[in-house]
Amino acid sequence: MSDPGLAGELLRSPEFNSGTSGFFRDLLATRTAQVAVGQAARNLLRTRVPEYRDALADAVADLPVASRWPATASDLVYRGLANVLLHPRTPAGTRRLLDQALHGGVMFRSPHVWQRVRAEGLRGKLITAVSEEAGCRREGPAGESRDVLDAVLGACPDDLADRTVAEVFLVLFRSIVAPVSSTLAWSVLLACLHHTSDAPWPWPATWIVREAMRHRPMVWMVGRTVARSTEFGGLPFQPGDILSVSPFLLHHDQDHWPDSDVFRPERWAESGERGPYVPFGAGPYTCVGASVALTLMTEALTALTKDARLTVTGADARPAMVEGAVPRPFAVLRTPT
Ligand code: HEM
Repeated sequence: MSDPGLAGELLRSPEFNSGTSGFFRDLLATRTAQVAVGQAARNLLRTRVPEYRDALADAVADLPVASRWPATASDLVYRGLANVLLHPRTPAGTRRLLDQALHGGVMFRSPHVWQRVRAEGLRGKLITAVSEEAGCRREGPAGESRDVLDAVLGACPDDLADRTVAEVFLVLFRSIVAPVSSTLAWSVLLACLHHTSDAPWPWPATWIVREAMRHRPMVWMVGRTVARSTEFGGLPFQPGDILSVSPFLLHHDQDHWPDSDVFRPERWAESGERGPYVPFGAGPYTCVGASVALTLMTEALTALTKDARLTVTGADARPAMVEGAVPRPFAVLRTPT
């Protein structure tokens, strides 16, 4: 769906936005539990931004002059967040499995069947290890949240099975690291393609990130399931049908976004009404992590461009579809200034 009026209605009206959201699938049975877990993870990330910033600075310092993207974006974001996802005293084997999940087809589904089979094996081991860890932590005294797993344990219903806790943790791992790193990669790619002079980028990091999410929103579709027979936009729908809004189409709506096909970060400094902008969804189920996600992405972009110039080679701004719109492979040269 690309009509702004209908899209707004779909994402906001109680008809399609009551009860549980689809984000945690059927892992959390009530909306109260969904909201509590989402907010607990978001609050934890917020308090750990300074630690993320420091870890990211170390990761950027270790980058070679030439790096392969978008994989490097995932590495950077993951290194920044690794201790926030699972704190350092978590068994090394469990942390290693999470490291492997990053590029092992667990975060992004591989297009190749044999890789998907391997990823399923890895996913199974990770779920088992995290559920054992959840069980151990439940036996210990409750304390402050040291990582996302603690945040889930503290906010989820007490009787949620350890295995389900692990599944919820994995949903959060993927939903945090994948869109933040993909948007970071889009931001680098698009800014480099549109600013080729030797001078520093003329835009603040926030404008670049916001415009990257407009021009190439990572989340391709935001869906709502029809609960009862209804008519919408003049068409009949049955229970179980899924209606989806396309952020990409809304963000490229010529009537509401001037020069919609042009990557133009400066538009975020202009006053006046903007077009429909839904990279984080909208309405009651809108992304609870939106503002902290913006912080994580701008911090990463700022660290990458501090005292350095970025240029890209082998770039193609058309998206590849991997459970979302991610950049195709490209190389980044990062040269000190
Ligand atoms: C660039 C980064 C991100 C993007 C593009 C993104 C996008 C989205 C979108 C499109 C939705 C669905 C909204 C809807 O259905 O209307 C969503 C939901 C959600 N996101 Fe994010 N997200 C990002 C980062 C994060 C982060 C860092 C967190 C950390 C807590 C997070 C937690 C959630 C949660 C818990 C939900 C479910 C909300 C609910 O159903 O109540 N997201 N996100």
